[in-house]
Amino acid sequence: MVNFKIDNPTIVHFGKDVIRDLGKTVKIYGNKVLLVYGKGSIKSNGIYDAVIEQLNTAGVEVVEYSGIKPNPVVEDVNAAVELGRKENIDLILAVGGGSVIDSAKIVSVTIPLDTTAWRVMIKMVRPGKAVPLISVLTLAATGTEMNQYAVVQNDQAKKKLGIGYRQMYPRHSFLDPQYTYSVPRNYTAFGIVDLMAHTLENYFGSGEATLSDRFVFAILNETIEYGPKLINNLHEYDLRAKIMYAATMALNGLTGYGRESGDWGVHDIGHVISVLFDTPHGASLSIAYPAWLKVNKDKMPERIALLGRSVFGVNSAEKTIDSLENFFKSIGSPVRLNEAGIHSAKKPDLLETMIKNKVRGSNFKLTEEEMGKIVELMDAD
Ligand code: NZQ
Ligand code: ZN
Repeated sequence: MVNFKIDNPTIVHFGKDVIRDLGKTVKIYGNKVLLVYGKGSIKSNGIYDAVIEQLNTAGVEVVEYSGIKPNPVVEDVNAAVELGRKENIDLILAVGGGSVIDSAKIVSVTIPLDTTAWRVMIKMVRPGKAVPLISVLTLAATGTEMNQYAVVQNDQAKKKLGIGYRQMYPRHSFLDPQYTYSVPRNYTAFGIVDLMAHTLENYFGSGEATLSDRFVFAILNETIEYGPKLINNLHEYDLRAKIMYAATMALNGLTGYGRESGDWGVHDIGHVISVLFDTPHGASLSIAYPAWLKVNKDKMPERIALLGRSVFGVNSAEKTIDSLENFFKSIGSPVRLNEAGIHSAKKPDLLETMIKNKVRGSNFKLTEEEMGKIVELMDAD
């Protein structure tokens, strides 16, 4: 086990009606808030009204930036930065899923700098102070509500990049499982895939940390037991709560302590699929993970088999990979490119961008030949 530091400053408010503490929490950080949200789901499901009521009661002035798209783009981040600077806001309130919260994180570190968002994303400029950020999470998936990462894409450069800085942890995150009732079945499944993928990226990283492995197995066991039930009962509070809790724990540090690194090659592949074809993040991962495992199987048969024994009750690496793929299928997430509407003719473009964007991963370090095999497997019948 390698040395590690546990340092997670986000205060999480979890459970039914936690929104009632939002107004007074916002007020701690100032009187003028930039409210950032997506394409409108919060208006149809009532979350917008509940948030505005809190802000009005607390006497906080509100400036709005809306329209953040899934697989968020840097143009929106820059526009929100401009608005926040012009209005001289005291803090940012992000209400949405990963796309909204990630965009708001980049806004929060870019506003105080004399630069644009992409220069922060490509690490030309390092964040200093950040505008305080509070989040209200509406979709269980990414873990962004309790971590320091943000992922934004640049369509011209064909790059979807993630960065992580301590300044980007939300100060507070409000997690009410009821707020995820309206997440449709497909995005509920993509969220389940994403949280599973986060634990796997750490599990397949380098370095031995058996307790962290067991955290991975616990999160996967929970998800495999309750995820499919949730897919058939989208409005059941306890199921929504279990998956929301699991998603937060899957990428808040817990599953990585004591390891040298995670791998994250599958996420890098997923980001290429998303930036080229606008595929939802979780869907890109359910396509890429089985293929990545098949290509890397012979490098770590025992490790994959241990996962299988601990999570699926099977004994071999092959059966583990089959079980994972079948699980993704069973909840309705695609496992091949064509199931996500990506035609075989797109394979050369996909491979070229994978090579250009260096989707190697940090532990298993894919070669270009292996990337080619992964593309073929993602396309196989
Ligand atoms: O646009 P709105 O109206 O917000 O609708 C969204 C969007 O269409 C909708 N939605 C969200 N909450 C809802 C809802 N619909 C009904 N009811 C609700 N309560 O769902 C759609 C998808 O939203 P999005 O925010 O894109 O989903 P998710 O939370 O999965 O976030 C995905 C983004 O996060 C990044 C991904 O790459 C992707 O860009 N990730 C961020 C990470 C992090 N910061 O740590 C790690 C992850 O690995 C991931 O890369
Ligand atoms: Zn992810």
